[in-house]
Amino acid sequence: RKGNFEHFMQKEIHEQPDSLTMTMRGRLIRGGEQKAKGILLGGLKDYLKTMRRSRRILFIGCGTSYNAALAARPVVEELSGIPVTMEIASDLLDRQGPIYREDTAIFVSQSGETADTLQALEYAKSNGALCVGITNTVGSAIARGTHCGIHLNAGCEIGVASTKAYTSQIAVIVMLALLDKDMKELAALLMDEQSLLVFGRGYNYATALECALKVKEVSLMHAEGIVAGEMKHGPLALVDETLPIIVIATGDASLNKQQSVIQQLKARKGRLIVMCTEGDAEFMCPDRTCRIIEVPKVHDCLQPIINIVPLQLLAYHLTVFRGFNVDQPRNLAKSVTTQ
Ligand code: F6R
Repeated sequence: RKGNFEHFMQKEIHEQPDSLTMTMRGRLIRGGEQKAKGILLGGLKDYLKTMRRSRRILFIGCGTSYNAALAARPVVEELSGIPVTMEIASDLLDRQGPIYREDTAIFVSQSGETADTLQALEYAKSNGALCVGITNTVGSAIARGTHCGIHLNAGCEIGVASTKAYTSQIAVIVMLALLDKDMKELAALLMDEQSLLVFGRGYNYATALECALKVKEVSLMHAEGIVAGEMKHGPLALVDETLPIIVIATGDASLNKQQSVIQQLKARKGRLIVMCTEGDAEFMCPDRTCRIIEVPKVHDCLQPIINIVPLQLLAYHLTVFRGFNVDQPRNLAKSVTTQ
């Protein structure tokens, strides 16, 4: 319905303050003074790591959708540090242009049904690229055919000339470029929590203690590092669906025991964040109910050096989100010269 407008195109041009708000709703992480501090795009979460490791990002679309990607390309290139190339879908198909498994191909389409874009998607998939969809139509062929994606949520576009989809497409691609490290996303989820438990053992008992110390001293959130063998001797009573728990389960001699800790915590519906070595996520949490922090595998005795880094970043981002002074934590001094 056109309401007070004479044409759908006119209506859709005027709808843009609302359609853009809808596009951004729930995707901006607010920090102090309601300023946006980060971005959450849930539809991409399982593929972000692969995207960040890609050799190249290709934007593929037709007409207005191609133009939207072209408008946002500089920010993607600048912030991701990954080379970005542009492809008009029909031209890519005419040339059978090169696409590789190390590429991320992003398909931009309001309708999600454009034949050239859809065919280019099949082509990119057959070449092994990670395929991401940006569409305005839930359940469309492109939304279904891509590995992951983002919906524009701009509302139905009826006018043939695309208007509000264009601005929402640019907004979504800019948000994509602004996505930060996994730890920032995790910190955003945990920023309002009261407390955090960290279970480690063996070489990584110290990692659990150090993570908890960092979280306490800078983010001023209560945190406790616990040797996992003690779990049944008291701490298990704290476990419920709300308390976040990090379990360090990187592949060393204590891996089997940590796996059993994860099972027991899951059985009590614990809210788990599992740190494991790259490629182990499926094995550590087959039902995908845990958040995963993947780290590279090194020799067991060196693993604490690797494991603490994402946890330090977690403490850092938590502090920024919670609005505290990162470099000068409350009541603390760099050198404590008094007893
Ligand atoms: C121009 C216009 C077209 C579409 C193009 C792609 O105003 O609307 O250029 O942008 O046909 O359509 P989608 O975005 O549905 O793939």
